[in-house]
Amino acid sequence: MANLDKDRAVSLLNRILEAELAGVIRYTHYSLLVFGHNRIPIVSWMREQAAESLTHAQQAGEMITLLGEYPSLTIGPLLDSYQHDVEAIMRESLESEAKALALYRELLKCAEGHSVVIEEYARQMVYAEELHASEVDKMLRKPGKVAAFRPVEHLPGNRI
Ligand SMILES: [Fe+2]
Repeated sequence: MANLDKDRAVSLLNRILEAELAGVIRYTHYSLLVFGHNRIPIVSWMREQAAESLTHAQQAGEMITLLGEYPSLTIGPLLDSYQHDVEAIMRESLESEAKALALYRELLKCAEGHSVVIEEYARQMVYAEELHASEVDKMLRKPGKVAAFRPVEHLPGNRI
């Protein structure tokens, strides 16, 4: 771990922690604003996302203390667009998830070849967040349309 830029890794981990905590609040807030016929599955999906964001925040915090540093007590930026139809919520969610994914990619680049534990963690999170973004993308497609709402190569920091 000698060559790891620890300050940079901790700063990225703190931004990840803050972004994931913002996700907990964002998904909980959205889940309170879903009305209509499909309310029940959408509310439960959003609450699952809130719980997953909390797990991700806790994992990022554990990585910070693993490095012997102090975890942030701040929450990332929260936007309220006051648009509460499900499609607008999904689009906003895809944007926020893309920002978190870009932070995980930066962390992966920072740790690659320098710290197996941080590298492995970041790689797993890029995988998990990319699958998650693709799930939201599929939810944004119109029934019968296969093409991605937002093609993978357009995700920030993607090396494809
Ligand atoms: Fe996450």
